[in-house]
Amino acid sequence: MSRVFHLTPPGERARTEQPAPAPVPEEPRAGIVAGYLAPHPPHLIYADNPPQNEPRSTGGWEVLRWAYDEVRRRIRDLKPDVLVVHAPHWITMVGHHVNCVPNPRGVSVEPIFPNLFRYHFDFRTDVELAEAMVSSFEEHGLVTRAMREPGVRVDYATIGALHMANPRWDIPVVSISANNNPYFYADAELEQMDVLGTATRVAIERTGRRAVLLASNSLSHLHFDRETELPEDMGREYAYNNDQYRADMKLLEVVRSRPSSALRTAIPEHIEASEAETKSGSLSWLLSALDWPDTTGDILGYGTIIGTGNAVVEWLPDGSRRG
Ligand SMILES: [Fe+2]
Repeated sequence: MSRVFHLTPPGERARTEQPAPAPVPEEPRAGIVAGYLAPHPPHLIYADNPPQNEPRSTGGWEVLRWAYDEVRRRIRDLKPDVLVVHAPHWITMVGHHVNCVPNPRGVSVEPIFPNLFRYHFDFRTDVELAEAMVSSFEEHGLVTRAMREPGVRVDYATIGALHMANPRWDIPVVSISANNNPYFYADAELEQMDVLGTATRVAIERTGRRAVLLASNSLSHLHFDRETELPEDMGREYAYNNDQYRADMKLLEVVRSRPSSALRTAIPEHIEASEAETKSGSLSWLLSALDWPDTTGDILGYGTIIGTGNAVVEWLPDGSRRG
C-alpha cells in the first residue's frame, strides 16, 4: 500500500514516529540562591598572588584558600546575576550606606597590613539593585544613604570577600556598609541587622535578581600584634588562644548540626565569648536575608590568620538542595 494512504494507528505513531518531548528547561530561580560566610583577612589575597595585588607571597593559609576554591566553583554553578556583600570595614556611624557608584576603581590599602594588601580594584555595580536597596532600607525604617561619590575608596573587607569568591570580577556587585554601633555600645543588639537582611531580600525579589550574598566576617578576631619576618610562615600560625578557638568550635558545632535559627542565640553568645568580628552584624544580616533557613550550614573550611578564627560556610535557602 502506498504510504500516502497508510495511516499508522495513533498509539503506534506515538511509539514509533513522534520524538520524545524535549525537557522544558527549568526557569532559573530568582531571589537569593546562596549565602556564604566569607572572611576577608588581607593575608588570603596576599597568599593568592592575584595580578591586582602589588605584594608577592610564597603562599600560605592553603586550607582556607581551598575552601574558597570550592565557593568559586559553586558560585559559577549557581550563575547569579549579582554578588551582594556586607563588610565590617566600610564603617558608617549613622545608618546604612549602599554603594551606588557604577564603576568603582582605585587602590585599596589595608591600614594595618599595607605590606600585604595594595589592591587595584575595578568592578561594576548593579546600580538598579543598589538603588532598590536604598528604597527598601528606607521603607523598612532604616536610616539609609546612597553612596554616589565616584572616587569612593572601597575598603579591604569588601574587596577581600569579593575577590576570594569571584577573582574574575565578572559578576556585578552591590556593597553595603556596616553601621558599627554594636562595636561602640556594648548592650546594642543585632536586631537591626535582622531588619537590614529582610530589606535586602525584598529589594532582590523586587528586582528579580538571582543573588549570592557574602558576609565578610571572621569569627574570633583577636590577632597577634607582631608579624613574623615571613608573613606567610605557617609554622607560626595558630589560634590566638584556646578560649578563642573553643568559642569558634562551639559556634561551628551549632552551624553544622542545627537549623540556622539556633544561631539567633548562638551568635550573641559567641560574641560574648570571643571578641568576634560578627559583632559588626554581617553574619546576622546574611542569615536574616535568607530568612533563617531551616537547614544546617556547610562548613567548607576553618583556619586561623595571624591568630584570628575564620570559617568559610555556605547556607542555601529553604527549598533548594545541593545535588
Ligand atoms: Fe576584619
